[in-house]
Amino acid sequence: MAGRAIEVLRSIDTGTARLEIRWAALRDLAALHTLQRRCFAEGQAYGLATLFALYLWPRAAILVAWAAGRVAGCVVGDRNGDRARILNLCVDPDFRRRGIGALLLQTAEEVLGARDITLMVEDKNAGAQELYRRAGYIPIADLRNYYGKNRHGILMQKRR
Ligand SMILES: CC(C)(COP(=O)(O)OP(=O)(O)OC[C@H]1O[C@@H](n2cnc3c(N)ncnc32)[C@H](O)[C@@H]1OP(=O)(O)O)[C@@H](O)C(=O)NCCC(=O)NCCS
Repeated sequence: MAGRAIEVLRSIDTGTARLEIRWAALRDLAALHTLQRRCFAEGQAYGLATLFALYLWPRAAILVAWAAGRVAGCVVGDRNGDRARILNLCVDPDFRRRGIGALLLQTAEEVLGARDITLMVEDKNAGAQELYRRAGYIPIADLRNYYGKNRHGILMQKRR
């Protein structure tokens, strides 16, 4: 996406470590793959090939949160005209409940810049739903078996 030349999007002093949100670089993809496997069940974690395809896709944005020299989280989104989607958001278990997920989401919204943003979340994922609700997303549809048998999805939307 346009804007990738500005590598560091956010830099915050958390008290214990400096947190930076940057555009993903090609060299980050292996670490992002490891992060995906730490955060999602098999089948839901993005593989290296998917991450590479998203990295090359002009409409997609991959942002990485760095803390203490480590990849702490990432968000992937894409934009098509006035509509954007958050495709993937995750924070390493070692860095959770410090506001990193919310900050990644907010930064992705700014970078994507669309007025209408949607995302999918599993109905059992109460923590992520709460994060999204607090960020202004509202549920607009239920998608039965979206994540597999008896694993239902909720489509959430934010209009700005
Ligand atoms: C969901 C996830 C990204 C949250 O990341 P995080 O950095 O811990 O989130 P934040 O610290 O920014 O949380 C912001 C708010 O969201 C809510 N929240 C986040 N995780 C929560 C949880 N496990 N339980 C309840 N509320 C939660 C809280 O209101 C929290 O504020 P608080 O800590 O002041 O109470 C992270 O738990 C994760 O990677 N989970 C696995 C992957 C995943 O489920 N991704 C979302 C797919 S749709």
